[in-house]
Amino acid sequence: MRAAVRYLVLLFGSLALVAWGASALFNLQAMEWAQRDVAARARLAASAADPSLRQAAGRGERQLLNNMVRDERLMGAAICSPSGRSEIASDGFPASLGCRSLPEEALRVGEEGWDRTIAGPSGATHLTVLPISHEVSQPPRMLLLVHDMSYVDRRADTTRRYTFLAFAVVGLLGAAAASVVARLSWLSWTAQLRMVLLAPFKAARVVIPRRFQPLLSDVRDLVSTLAVEEARTESGWTPERLKQVLQRQLGGEGILVVANREPYIHERDGAGGLRVVHPASGLVTALEPVMRACSGTWIAHGSGDADFEVVDGHDHVRVPPERPIYDLRRLRLTPEEEQGYYYGFSNEGLWPLCHIADARPSFRSTDWERYQQVNRRFADAVAEEAAVPDPIVLVQDYHFAMLPRYLRERLPRATILTFWHIPWPHAERLVVCPWARELLGGLLGSSIVGFHTQAHCNNFMEAADRLLESRLDRERQSVIQAGRETLVRPYPISIDWPSRWADATAPAEQCRAEVRRELGLPADALLGVGVDRLDYTKGIEERLLAVERLLERQPRLHGRFWFAQIAAPSRAVIEAYRSLAERVEALADRINARFGREGWRPIILARRHHEPPAIFRMYRAADLCYVSSLDDGMNLVAKEFVAARDDLHGVLVLSQFTGAARELTEALVVNPYDLDAAAAALLAALDMPLEEQEDRMRSMRTLVSELNVYRWAGKMLLDATRTRRKERLASRLSPVAEPR
Ligand code: G6P
Repeated sequence: MRAAVRYLVLLFGSLALVAWGASALFNLQAMEWAQRDVAARARLAASAADPSLRQAAGRGERQLLNNMVRDERLMGAAICSPSGRSEIASDGFPASLGCRSLPEEALRVGEEGWDRTIAGPSGATHLTVLPISHEVSQPPRMLLLVHDMSYVDRRADTTRRYTFLAFAVVGLLGAAAASVVARLSWLSWTAQLRMVLLAPFKAARVVIPRRFQPLLSDVRDLVSTLAVEEARTESGWTPERLKQVLQRQLGGEGILVVANREPYIHERDGAGGLRVVHPASGLVTALEPVMRACSGTWIAHGSGDADFEVVDGHDHVRVPPERPIYDLRRLRLTPEEEQGYYYGFSNEGLWPLCHIADARPSFRSTDWERYQQVNRRFADAVAEEAAVPDPIVLVQDYHFAMLPRYLRERLPRATILTFWHIPWPHAERLVVCPWARELLGGLLGSSIVGFHTQAHCNNFMEAADRLLESRLDRERQSVIQAGRETLVRPYPISIDWPSRWADATAPAEQCRAEVRRELGLPADALLGVGVDRLDYTKGIEERLLAVERLLERQPRLHGRFWFAQIAAPSRAVIEAYRSLAERVEALADRINARFGREGWRPIILARRHHEPPAIFRMYRAADLCYVSSLDDGMNLVAKEFVAARDDLHGVLVLSQFTGAARELTEALVVNPYDLDAAAAALLAALDMPLEEQEDRMRSMRTLVSELNVYRWAGKMLLDATRTRRKERLASRLSPVAEPR
């Protein structure tokens, strides 16, 4: 509306200016013509009357002059003496314009005469002075004719009025025509724009006109910014909300996930059939619910002995098996590849390098070769799976530090978000790896690199600064290398909420009774649990030692307290893991031998794989859960325990060296190396009044329910889609105009 008013003001303003200019020009011209006209008339009248004038002047007769001024435009005529005196004048000659008012030059003028137009209060007046024929010996008398030029001004007024009127009519007609044309083209433009904006929601493919492509990108960028803001400010991430956000952002395009571990492992069950195993992996725990919400393809190592019996011709299998939603693409690795890439470089090199757990990393060049080779193979697989030239790829964990770079070579426009699930060490520690620079360079092929905590982000940026030819942008939190920017962001991982395993588990009272019965414990037994892969970073030995210290200090717990350690076998090919398993076994035996008696062996060690339902029963049956990691990016066991305890009972004792300790501050946070403090925390947990347990658990449950895995994924994917949109905008690449 305002724009229309502005347009009209502008239109009429300019028309008025043009009209004014045109009429001024015309009036100037008209005045010139009139002057020429009256000058000619004056000369005509003077030459006609000349002989008589001479006599009239001599006799002082004014009649002749009165006859001359009958011409309606002549106001007066006078005869001036050579000295400038008025000898005779017609009746009513204007006194102010008499012979005395003439300049000297007018009285001395020759045959050509003298003309001047002067402005008066009632309009312009034109004076003409012409010599009257005379004796050669005498100076001539002059005939002064005064012409009324006010008619020129009147005409000018009329002309001006008509010119303005004409331009006003033209302006009105122009504005009306312009508004009709604008209305019509607006209707067609908005129709086209609507078609463009709704294109992603239409089944039929719509061709987007070129001129709309930049606009479309801008609009999408804006919508995405708003979505990001909305996502940032709102809490309450759910699978549905993640699905909606991604539908809006990706328009149905699936995401590609690369993770070494697969979410479902097909194994032979020993009785001629197959079984599906859910691996013990924090990464899988977090990512699997996200894939259920997002759909897409998960590319992983097919590690089960029956994995390739269930895949199609492209090594795909639809999962989850009970209700397929997304694709699992399995990669076959040779035993040499698995040895060098997975056991060797990943788990004997990078895993101990990144965790402060007193384990020495081993770096062998043969493992490094295999690691790169397998990373290339996975990059090839991603490129095969990509449906667009700029897919969003989520690369997971330390198995794939080189993949982002290799993938960038194959798909230069991909948006690669790499999430590092384990800690990132200080630069001093990182340089222990002979290929530290290569690892950093590989990761910087990513658009975004994510860690659980800001501290790990800082370590990564510091390392890039010290080891590479790169530039840090601390404000944007990014590393720029070879003209490419990689954002470095903290995304604290979490679990699904509500937890599907918790929902499928019997109520706490029932679990409590059943588990005690199955373990052969009295109904009122106090029970602590630990749930881990058998890994030296988990502090399982320190945990059992803390239990031993507790029993040393609290004889009242003898015969009343049991600690059940679920230890899933892990990476057992590696010596450090085999010897850990032996040490843990021996430690449990020693403690049991030291304190045990008829009907009471305080440590229950279950060294086998447990499926999630069994683990959730254990969580619900326990009085406390002790997570004692020596170094852990996040630790999802802590969050799963909280998710399981909808009865609000049970106490979490949590190592200060986990990422989770930063969020779950209502846990009893301990240093697992400090056995006295850990034993005291275990005792405090067992003695904690129910009311306090409820308060703490309620608060932790609120936090985990808010900071759930859908939020983790949502924030990452929104950042990724935003980055992609910016890159598309930069290259003016239209997503819908792309060939699919
Ligand atoms: C950690 C790693 C994951 C890994 C999991 C289990 O959580 O960050 O990438 O999947 O351990 O280890 P595994 O070697 O059995 O996959």
